[in-house]
Amino acid sequence: MMMTIDDAVAKRRSVRGYLPDEVPQDILREVLGLAQQAPSNCNIQPWITHVLSGPSLRGLGRKMVAAAQAEIPPDPDFAADRKFEGVYRARQIDAAMQLYGAMGIKRHDRPRRDWAYRRNLDFFGGPHAALIFLHHTFEEREAVDLGIYAQTLMLLLTSRGISSCAQGALGLYPGIVRDHLGLPDTHRLIFGISFGYEDAAVDANRARVGRAGLDETVIFHRDGYSTRPTTECDQGLRRSE
Ligand SMILES: Cc1cc2nc3c(=O)[nH]c(=O)nc-3n(C[C@H](O)[C@H](O)[C@H](O)COP(=O)(O)O)c2cc1C
Repeated sequence: MMMTIDDAVAKRRSVRGYLPDEVPQDILREVLGLAQQAPSNCNIQPWITHVLSGPSLRGLGRKMVAAAQAEIPPDPDFAADRKFEGVYRARQIDAAMQLYGAMGIKRHDRPRRDWAYRRNLDFFGGPHAALIFLHHTFEEREAVDLGIYAQTLMLLLTSRGISSCAQGALGLYPGIVRDHLGLPDTHRLIFGISFGYEDAAVDANRARVGRAGLDETVIFHRDGYSTRPTTECDQGLRRSE
């Protein structure tokens, strides 16, 4: 029986270790076909999705891991080095602690942290990845469409028992990816999603992260009254003081 949308939203989590089994081609086509229903501004559907499997996927993974091992500086199409502050930094640290804690990696164990990071570049061993590009003339508004599309895709996967992980890290070496796929510079790589069937024996998959409470991020308004003074909307940064 299919999951409800509530179940899929609750069950989806980032999985960072997969079994080698591939998702059957008809299910891949069904899920990607349904994801086309994602809404987008003016219905322009700006996502350009390349789905890699088998030797094509493993070959790209090897090239990106080799680049990281050779300490070739990442050159993402979109800035990816922003430092978080305040509550955002606290949430980032908590997520890292959950992940590295599950993997038994200590905070200052640089070699193992580097190794954990490089697993991103080989798609966490997963059998498939969707690499999602945006035409170079597009900006934030179209990037929003890509985010909505990506979550639609991940929920459709979840509802079929297929795990996934959205990865900004897959956008760190766009030149290598374009070269591998024979794509022009007009295709800007935003991020990728590794997916497949979860390997429950992988330590990283024991990591669980929480969420802020509803009242921390959502403010309800009615008749001039709100659940919190609107000036507190910037609480995330003010809390750092
Ligand atoms: C756009 C985007 C980029 C992400 N990039 C990475 C990444 O590069 N590597 C990674 O391990 N997780 C990445 N994540 C997963 C987040 O860390 C994860 O969604 C967050 O910690 C919440 O955990 P959950 O997905 O298990 O609920 C990314 C998620 C999103 C939405």
